[in-house]
Amino acid sequence: MAVLLLSSLLLAAPVLLVVSGPVPGSTNKTVPLILWHGMGDSCCNPLSMGAIKKMIEQEIAGIYVLSLMIGKNVVEDTENGFFLDVNHQVSMVCSQLAQDPNLQGGYNAMGFSQGAQFLRAVAQRCPSPPMKKLISVGGQHQGVYGLPRCPGESSHLCDMIREALNRGAYSDLVQKHLVQAQYWHDPLNDDLYKKHSLFLADINQERSVNETYKKNLQQLEKFVMVKFLQDSVVDPVDTEWFGFLKTGQAKVTETLQESDLYKQDRLGLAAMDKAGKLVFLATEGDHLQFSKEWFDANLLPYLR
Ligand SMILES: *[C@@H]1O[C@H](CO)[C@@H](O)[C@H](O)[C@H]1NC(C)=O
Ligand SMILES: *[C@@H]1O[C@H](CO)[C@@H](O)[C@H](O)[C@H]1NC(C)=O
Repeated sequence: MAVLLLSSLLLAAPVLLVVSGPVPGSTNKTVPLILWHGMGDSCCNPLSMGAIKKMIEQEIAGIYVLSLMIGKNVVEDTENGFFLDVNHQVSMVCSQLAQDPNLQGGYNAMGFSQGAQFLRAVAQRCPSPPMKKLISVGGQHQGVYGLPRCPGESSHLCDMIREALNRGAYSDLVQKHLVQAQYWHDPLNDDLYKKHSLFLADINQERSVNETYKKNLQQLEKFVMVKFLQDSVVDPVDTEWFGFLKTGQAKVTETLQESDLYKQDRLGLAAMDKAGKLVFLATEGDHLQFSKEWFDANLLPYLR
């Protein structure tokens, strides 16, 4: 019922953020930064994205940081993280970035949890303005085959989502209306996944190889992936480094380098790896739990 109620909100036209910030064209050397929040979160929560934005602004003088709001306000932004078709979200963000005068010289992007794979889609689909570095913080680049625990206070929503996924993650109805279904990756139903996953199978080149995706992704200077070693939200956690369960079973995992995606280099990741563009970082802690010290030492250098 809640799904129906909330999905009626999807009809409302999204409004782009009005941005204030540095004067375009000024001689500012800092590279702007885009943040995309995770599931159950919003652009501007003072305890999450808001705090991170502030922290980065304090560390890097003059930096332009834009924390993406998907929708007209914080409530819509949070709901859209569950119910708004991901391909639509990505194209909304692409046009927002294209219209932002502060970003025309290029920008770095930092995605948290599902926001990380969404930003990768932005890199693959929308090369202008150019994304320079992509930092994936607990992202799920090969999707998930489980949501053992939901972040924050969304546990009632999570129960509902799990039920919908179990009923048929690859049915058109669920795919269209549930964000998490669009990166649901069932290794026991690989054919269904490849055929019906509206978002993840597309950006991971499972149906065909789009040379544009491959070319655009390789424009990145760095693609940094952070894995949380005690992650209790993402299953399997290997997906945070672009690994996953081997197809046909649900126990044994493989790394990115062991995967066909890499061996056939359908996305250019092997080429990027050889060029030293892929960075794999691990940190102790549960999903998205890191200290300021860790952030400063490990991620900040990519933003300076
Ligand atoms: C760039 O840097 C300055 C100082 O670091 C900052 O105050 C300003 O808002 C930024 N943008 C400019 C000058 O356009
Ligand atoms: C490949 O991706 C580009 C960028 O999103 C898109 O415009 C194009 O239609 C895609 N090509 C195919 C064959 O799907």
